[in-house]
Amino acid sequence: MSRLIFVMLLALCASAQSIRHDAGRHVWLLTTHTSSYAMGLSPENELQHLYWGGPLWRVEDVPAAERKRDISSFDPHQMLENEEYPGWGGPRFDEPALKITRADGDRDLVLHYVSHQAKANELAITLKDIHDDIEVELDYIVHSGTIGRKSIIRNRSKQAITLESAQSAAWYLPAGVGYRLSYLSGRWAAETQLNREPIHEGIKTLESRTGHTGHNINPWFAIDEGDADETNGRVWFGALAWSGNWRISVEQTPYRQVRVTGGFNPFDFAYWLKPGESLETPVFYAGYAQRGFGEASRLLHDLERSDIQPDGLKARPRPVLYNSWEATEFNVDEAGQIALAEKAAKLGVELFVIDDGWFGKRNNDHAGLGDWTVNPQKFPNGLNGLITRVNSLGMDFGLWVEPEMVNPDSDLYRAHPDWVMNFPGRPRSELRNQLILNMARDDVKDYIFGVLDKLASTYKIRYFKWDMNRIFSEPGWPEVPVEQQRELWVKYVWNYYDIMKQLREKHPGLEIESCSGGGGRIDLGVLRYVDEVWTSDNTEAFDRLRIQEGFSQAYAAKFMSAWVTDVPNMNRRSTPLQYRFLVAMQGALGIGANLNRWSDADTELAKRMVALDKRIRTTVQFGNLYRLLSPRLSDTTANEYVSTDGREAVLFAFRHSQEYNTPPPALLLEGLDARAVYRLESLDGKPLGNSSGAYLMQQGVNVTLRGDFDSTAVLLHRVE
Ligand code: DGJ
Repeated sequence: MSRLIFVMLLALCASAQSIRHDAGRHVWLLTTHTSSYAMGLSPENELQHLYWGGPLWRVEDVPAAERKRDISSFDPHQMLENEEYPGWGGPRFDEPALKITRADGDRDLVLHYVSHQAKANELAITLKDIHDDIEVELDYIVHSGTIGRKSIIRNRSKQAITLESAQSAAWYLPAGVGYRLSYLSGRWAAETQLNREPIHEGIKTLESRTGHTGHNINPWFAIDEGDADETNGRVWFGALAWSGNWRISVEQTPYRQVRVTGGFNPFDFAYWLKPGESLETPVFYAGYAQRGFGEASRLLHDLERSDIQPDGLKARPRPVLYNSWEATEFNVDEAGQIALAEKAAKLGVELFVIDDGWFGKRNNDHAGLGDWTVNPQKFPNGLNGLITRVNSLGMDFGLWVEPEMVNPDSDLYRAHPDWVMNFPGRPRSELRNQLILNMARDDVKDYIFGVLDKLASTYKIRYFKWDMNRIFSEPGWPEVPVEQQRELWVKYVWNYYDIMKQLREKHPGLEIESCSGGGGRIDLGVLRYVDEVWTSDNTEAFDRLRIQEGFSQAYAAKFMSAWVTDVPNMNRRSTPLQYRFLVAMQGALGIGANLNRWSDADTELAKRMVALDKRIRTTVQFGNLYRLLSPRLSDTTANEYVSTDGREAVLFAFRHSQEYNTPPPALLLEGLDARAVYRLESLDGKPLGNSSGAYLMQQGVNVTLRGDFDSTAVLLHRVE
């Protein structure tokens, strides 16, 4: 064997997923296809972080952990060492991973290594307090391009403890300054806006305190050295799998160290552990990309599709959906919905969803939530009249629900006012005229499961759109001892997950969409139980380009529900129907327009667009995304999707407003095989000639985009 082949083989082995342990020097090396991560034991048995970056093939390269020297009485060695999971104890004042109070008042916690176990791609390291039997199991799972970390805190001591901060993991970047943070912020109808800003000394907090994942900040981060772009530069990134109060703190210490700590939000947090009890944190996934933000996003998309989503790689492409919410609001009835269903079926729609307004006295948002029985005035034949027609038109049926909510004007609230989260005697704040059931209570959880199970058992329902239209307030749980009342924040989310898990088990084939007044419940935690998420209540196509750009940083197109709706829309903006379709076809295509008002020309265009979507959706939803031009930085937006087998690709391009008759820039493609030849096809099926991958990536594709809100798509098929 030649030396070159030997070295190549070695590199290949080294870059496969692995966990290696250098027992002599007490160093662990975890390797994904794109990164390595190392930690080790100091002479005092403290577990220290040692390395996070590109793949290493030699564990001996990583220096063993060591005890540092104090710089001064203000800068003790504990603050200079990168402890993998620091307890709050001794002179440690960086963000702790775990902070506790024992029943006897002792709050000191210093965690040292006890043991470890490795199995295939999983490693568990157990730490224990130096004094008593409070243990933490640190779990690592090595995925193909990311590592998932969580902790299990076990109280094996003889007294109760209260956890005041329980984090999933702390991540350390290579020591240095000049890093830049990217994160997603926004608000209702303006979610997932991408921000980039320099990291300075101090702490930047990304968090939700509102009980759900939140519209304001999404639990994702990326950090680069200040100069990365879509294709170049080193990027460390991560996302937290939790749909309740979460926090990611990005801290730069005075010692040139950037650390990222994430897990349950310590805000109003307290979790009581009696002797023998334990608490498991959410998983914090993270990874490292050598080739910019584009690669970082693709690694997360792969993780979601192969290791997180309920059906994994067996999941079907999302069907084309119709939902009349924007067109009819609460004004739904059997005749009206059947008329829309007939029109939707002609367009090629595959899943017909009825939104809010079908139940109880739900004529507006003042009444009905909680009374999940079909409104007999609107649906005299129950839901079966509509479902039978929808099925006979060849479509599946989906139903909107908001089961964790109640209007004070409902039979459920009149029967169970105590089921609402509350502080006794204090006001109960209504938002959208509704209160929130305390789903942390097991009786409330059983009731909610019962409602959904009954609906799914009674009717032929393929899909639930599970909505949540308000944030928490007065999160009291008076029925349990005071020490346990704040556990509501955590148990609420566990029960939410558990209901969906049980539903899916009992009704195989049932699909779920996560919605919270638009994009308020989008995270890697909920993606374990749902097939898609509602991205935003803002369906205005130009705004959507930026919302979708932010969404795509962390989440794959397959999950991104996107509707074509009527104009003028938000901002009083009108965009052409083709533009609206092409924007929405970059995710899971839906139509939310009033089809009764569409002209024949609209209907014909829509038919062609739906047919096109069906041709390209596997490439879009399961392929690799390349963001070519950003709507934040250019008047032209372009995204390219390449199928995983490299045989198909599709390019989307949008122009906001042409000025001075200037043509758009050439769109330099990515992710193609330079040596292959591709046949190019316009969105209406016209041949556009053949080009090599090399030419398409070096010289690009020239598209015509004239005037305001013009759009186009080009399909590429590998021919040689
Ligand atoms: C908020 C959702 O985001 C909308 O799509 C719609 O389902 C309404 N709620 C219904 O109340």
